[in-house]
Amino acid sequence: MDELTQLIESAKADFAAAQQPAALEDAKARYIGKTGAVTMLMKELGKLPADQKRARGQAINAAKQAIEAALNERREAIANAALEAKLAAEAIDVTLPGRSGHTGGIHPVMRTWMRIEEIFRSIGFDVADGPEIESDWFSFTALNNPPNHPARSMQDTFYVDRQDGNGMQLPLRPHTSPMQVRYARTHTPPIKVIAPGRTYRVDSDATHSPMFHQVEGLWIGENISFTDLKGVYADFLRRFFETDDLVVRFRPSYFPFTEPSVEVDMAFTTGPKKGRWLEISGAGEVHPNVIRNFGLDPEKYIGFAFGSGLERLTMLRYGIDDLRLFFEGDLRFLRQFN
Ligand code: DAH
Repeated sequence: MDELTQLIESAKADFAAAQQPAALEDAKARYIGKTGAVTMLMKELGKLPADQKRARGQAINAAKQAIEAALNERREAIANAALEAKLAAEAIDVTLPGRSGHTGGIHPVMRTWMRIEEIFRSIGFDVADGPEIESDWFSFTALNNPPNHPARSMQDTFYVDRQDGNGMQLPLRPHTSPMQVRYARTHTPPIKVIAPGRTYRVDSDATHSPMFHQVEGLWIGENISFTDLKGVYADFLRRFFETDDLVVRFRPSYFPFTEPSVEVDMAFTTGPKKGRWLEISGAGEVHPNVIRNFGLDPEKYIGFAFGSGLERLTMLRYGIDDLRLFFEGDLRFLRQFN
């Protein structure tokens, strides 16, 4: 191989080895730059005898053109590779199926809440809502449960680090019962209302959660008795569980705001849970002191109240045995209800 052919081959190899434009331009400079090998050969032309100059000049020029051609080819290849890489990096795969927005579902406790509203509305009950940070008076005192009353320890209450105008620390309501008072003080009898909502207690295990839901019920009129409570509540349970195959019993109990007070138990008379009594609600005839705090005359007005746990009703309806499932947000659990 003559010197020029060797130069061409060497340039091609160097160009091929260059991966970036800068490296390629460096390689170019070594051959056809101002001090490049080919340029130097050109400069030496002058030293040649006249009869050789022409042929040698043409040969060097041909070599230079070959090198330039190889250089341009390589430039284009590098530019193309860069473009390919850029396109690949920015690729939008239009064949990929779109990510659809997920359809949300209704939480099982919320389904219970909605069912309860529907059932009670259908028999003429209003639905009321009220504050979760409640005053001490509405939470306890108005419900015949004044400070230092032993019944205060029935509920392990959370308090907010703030006091009301009477210097009493503000509780997170431990039950929905304050809504009896709030509603009755702003409405005239007959009063028929339910108040579903969030409630809070210092409690946490498989059947208790620090935040849970209750529904309060209140019917006050001139002669609303225990029979009305029993009729309304048993009818509610039958409609809620969609079966007539259940029985209801009242077990004597104590709450400061009712007299007499009961726990309401129910049992299915068919099915897998047949015959097992389940505690479902507190209830009673509203205590005269509470009627007075409603702003009403207890000689004239009488009625019942109840307070039931929504988680409890939901667990029974769907056969769920751990209440914590409601609050863990596990989609595998929640999807079963939608
Ligand atoms: N507030 C009671 C509780 O959370 C439940 C209750 C009992 C509500 C009797 C009532 C009632 O309205 O009459 O434990």
